[in-house]
Amino acid sequence: MKRIAVLTSGGDAPGMNAAIRSVVRTGNKKGWEVFGIREGYTGLINESFVSLGPRDVGGIIQKGGTFLGSARCEEFKTEEGRLKGLRSLNENRIDGLVVIGGNGSQTGSFLLYKLGFPVVGIASTIDNDLVGTDVTIGVDTALNIALEAIDRLKVTGTSHKRGFLVEVMGRNCGYLALMAAIAGGAEAVVLPEVETDPEEIADIIRNAYERGKSHAIVVVAEGAKYNANRLAEYFEKHHESIGFALRVTILGHVQRGGTPSAADRILASRLGAGATDCLEREEYGVLVGWMEGKIKTTPLKDVVGKIKKIDLDLFKLARILD
Ligand code: F6P
Repeated sequence: MKRIAVLTSGGDAPGMNAAIRSVVRTGNKKGWEVFGIREGYTGLINESFVSLGPRDVGGIIQKGGTFLGSARCEEFKTEEGRLKGLRSLNENRIDGLVVIGGNGSQTGSFLLYKLGFPVVGIASTIDNDLVGTDVTIGVDTALNIALEAIDRLKVTGTSHKRGFLVEVMGRNCGYLALMAAIAGGAEAVVLPEVETDPEEIADIIRNAYERGKSHAIVVVAEGAKYNANRLAEYFEKHHESIGFALRVTILGHVQRGGTPSAADRILASRLGAGATDCLEREEYGVLVGWMEGKIKTTPLKDVVGKIKKIDLDLFKLARILD
């Protein structure tokens, strides 16, 4: 391996910069030239390569987002787009590619690998929905942002005796919502993985009011059948009152833009090093993740098209603790 490239793809995640830095510096240490590709697979197709040395990635470990830029590239979803990407890698004499991203991005990396190119993926998404890793880069920071928001909503909720339906990201996975509910001491949580009767949530809110609580927090995953707006509409239509007056707060992309936590910086630094080690030992077509306190590689074929299951015992715990 002489020349490698790295790109960030899909939704950005706090800690991506630390992962790029680690790929660049560990790659350089192995005596390789490292290139950054701007704006994910879009930059790959358009040959937007930039040579990166150790100094080029100085001062980025503490920054959220990705200094290389990211994109959700429609063209790369087509065979033609991927062949353009392959051509661009070959024309730039790249021997190996590291793809930092989540589910969609790793589907792209798997398809590129199937075209015969040496690719290694790094698990990075705030959703923590990737099979092959206990934790993904960015989820710790996103969770802490959601928590800070919940703590603040409790303050204003208490002043006004209000309930809040707080919607958090996570696409079709309820991990972020479940963890935010437990850590935020929420009254209830609504997840895509668990069928929820809105009447049950109404009872929980009313019950909290009748027990003299000063506020109620319901954490709602964006992928749930009843997301925050649908739940609010349901309550409005079917109930005159459920005790607390309700407000909806959708955290949205705010969760993605934070300064990476220590945990995310360390995880990203480790996974970046793990990825260049893979390239060195010619272990291609794998996702580099973190399982049971160690770097773990999983074939991309066992990762793509799947969503990691949440721990339903934690859902039961959230119910007990509410
Ligand atoms: O995958 C990360 C994520 O933030 C999801 O939680 C969310 O559903 C999606 O990306 C939003 O995508 P976009 O940034 O393209 O609107």
